[in-house]
Amino acid sequence: MAFNKKIEELKKRREQIAQGGGEKAIEKQLAMGKMTARDRVRSIVDADSFQEYDMFVQHDARDFDMDKITLHGDGVITGTGAVNDRPVSIYAQDFTVAGGSLGSMHARKITKIMDHALKMRMPIIGINDSGGARIQEGVNSLAGYGDIFFRNTINSGVIPQISVILGPCAGGAVYSPALTDFVFVVDKISKMFITGPEVIKTVIGEEISMEDLGGARVHSEITGNAHFFANSEAECFLQIKKLLSFIPWNNSEKAPRQKPKDPKAEYRIDRIVPSDPKQPYDVRDVIRAVVDDSDFFEVQELWAVNAVIGFGRINGETVGFVANQPLCLAGVLDVDSSDKIARFIRYCDAFDIPLITFVDLPGYLPGIDQEHAGVIRHGAKILYAYSEATVPKVSVILRKAYGGGYIAMNSRHLRADYVFAWPAAEIAVMGPEGAANIIFRKEIMAAEDPDRMRQQKVDEYREKFANPYVAASKGYIDSVIEPVETRQLLMHALRVSVNKNQHIPNKKHGIPPF
Ligand code: HXC
Repeated sequence: MAFNKKIEELKKRREQIAQGGGEKAIEKQLAMGKMTARDRVRSIVDADSFQEYDMFVQHDARDFDMDKITLHGDGVITGTGAVNDRPVSIYAQDFTVAGGSLGSMHARKITKIMDHALKMRMPIIGINDSGGARIQEGVNSLAGYGDIFFRNTINSGVIPQISVILGPCAGGAVYSPALTDFVFVVDKISKMFITGPEVIKTVIGEEISMEDLGGARVHSEITGNAHFFANSEAECFLQIKKLLSFIPWNNSEKAPRQKPKDPKAEYRIDRIVPSDPKQPYDVRDVIRAVVDDSDFFEVQELWAVNAVIGFGRINGETVGFVANQPLCLAGVLDVDSSDKIARFIRYCDAFDIPLITFVDLPGYLPGIDQEHAGVIRHGAKILYAYSEATVPKVSVILRKAYGGGYIAMNSRHLRADYVFAWPAAEIAVMGPEGAANIIFRKEIMAAEDPDRMRQQKVDEYREKFANPYVAASKGYIDSVIEPVETRQLLMHALRVSVNKNQHIPNKKHGIPPF
């Protein structure tokens, strides 16, 4: 064959493969409000930066007449490209080809690009849109999933792993996203569940829609499986790019530095926190008042909202923020918020991102529900994560810091590097009301006017203990500061921490309260 003809043949093959599952299947995909796999990849990476690999890979299944079927690219597109001019690996399951189901060659394409991402120390982005294990391939497809999960685990903490759920993600397939760092979902499009509605109906006789079982809202608000919720695929892709602008490319690089910018003038840090310790406020405004350009990128915004986590920049450098949110349950720690905070601390620690903690909480949430849901085991995760983290760790106590909450929220005792407190901070074993009722119970009961006596004792207690100066006198906090000094002090603390070099004793690994 003449060389020109070979080029023609190559072009024809490429064109055919780029058709995915064909016109009809693509029409069905678009009618569901979904983009095609190739368009998704092109929308995430920088223009003209995508290079596809393994487009000629074919499945090797023989049963159920599979040998008579061609599956273009075996239902998954893999390759490399750039985001914000920096290299990424990416794969996208193509639902138009056998429902994006995962057979052995499909899995091999994914594991190959994952290995490549690890070797080149770049992020891996996986777009999931699949009917799950390819039923015709039996145990070979299960083996493929196992190979992916193994790599998710080994890559964890070395390169960023991002999962995007843009269609069904069913059965054991959900465990790859669950093992990755960040999961993105899109309203009405993303579906994640272990057992689908059909199985649930057969086994337990309950009817439930896919949306109510494992739609984007369910995983963003109830389960906490998703980290970012978007209303459209386009919005989701912008979120991915924004996240990538904040995080380092691997665990031996720093996050990209941006030009420093002052916070916006509308966030007046001295006017956000009410002096009445019972009044709520939005702690995100405090974060916005200290970060560059007031740009705070919140993670898991809709789940466990009594805690706030996310990224911002101080003087151009990425910082991870952890805060109690007095807008919800007074900012208490509970089972879910403990999980949310602990995992984020470990993410930041793995990728060398300094942590800033804003403290304002009455403690752990009391009650049978929480005790039985395992608040001891879950709450311990925060203690473990902060204690183990060796990145620079700075705390600012804004108002209340009571009991276990005081210790858990990056206290000096867990080796915080700098602890600052605002003048209205109350640091004590518990709130003045509870404390007075316990330690002055006899006096209150014996008084002629118990309510007046109780109030007197509450005031006495507050005066004596519920302030920052007792802790400051012991060196548990380093400085009592004015709110307006916060950003400057954070900048200072981070600047003088650049050479922080702290090690934990040599061990294979600890045993965190998973
Ligand atoms: C092979 C599959 C498939 C699968 C879908 N298809 N899922 N082929 N194996 N798992 C094929 C369909 O036969 C169909 O082919 C095409 O993909 C599109 O599927 P439709 O059903 O027409 O699409 P839709 O109506 O949108 O429904 C999507 C769906 C449904 C909800 C995902 O296909 C479905 O329920 N699939 C099975 C899901 C499942 O139970 N998977 C196994 C999970 S167990 P044609 O040729 O007709 O176009 C699992 C174990 C993993 O994954 C364990 C790992 C540890």
